[in-house]
Amino acid sequence: MTDQASADEKTISVVNEAVQQHGVSRSELIPILKTIMMRLGYISPAVILQLSHKLNLPSTEITSVATFYRMLSTSPRGKHVIQFCESAPCHVVGGNLVWQAITNTLGLQPGETSADNRWTLITTSCLGVCGIGPVMMVDTDLYGNVKPEEVPLILSRYD
Ligand code: FES
Repeated sequence: MTDQASADEKTISVVNEAVQQHGVSRSELIPILKTIMMRLGYISPAVILQLSHKLNLPSTEITSVATFYRMLSTSPRGKHVIQFCESAPCHVVGGNLVWQAITNTLGLQPGETSADNRWTLITTSCLGVCGIGPVMMVDTDLYGNVKPEEVPLILSRYD
């Protein structure tokens, strides 16, 4: 069996499980996409095609949802995803300097993935913890009161 065939089988099974879990209603499209995103790392064209058949929705509609929400991605992401809060409350307490430290350390701009596929950097709106801004997340780990000089240490915790 080739790697490509394995990947296809995995995609089929992840899509089937997500649809089974959430049901075939159009209103469940976002939860379905989030589940698939967590399992596969991105929403591939093959996923969109399968969902189009299963939910009886145009693939253009699924694509527009998958590209609209920043928590979703239609291209593969790196091993670790850094989300940086760019909303005003985090910005006014020094978020811009933390952001500069992140982009300088990684050499990435928003939405980019490093050449070694280790990091993907995205910005996000308020993460709901403004009291501890500036805030960033690495995968599911939340960091608050981040100082620019702490950025390299935080990133060094991830392989
Ligand atoms: S503004 Fe950054 S967490 Fe709310």
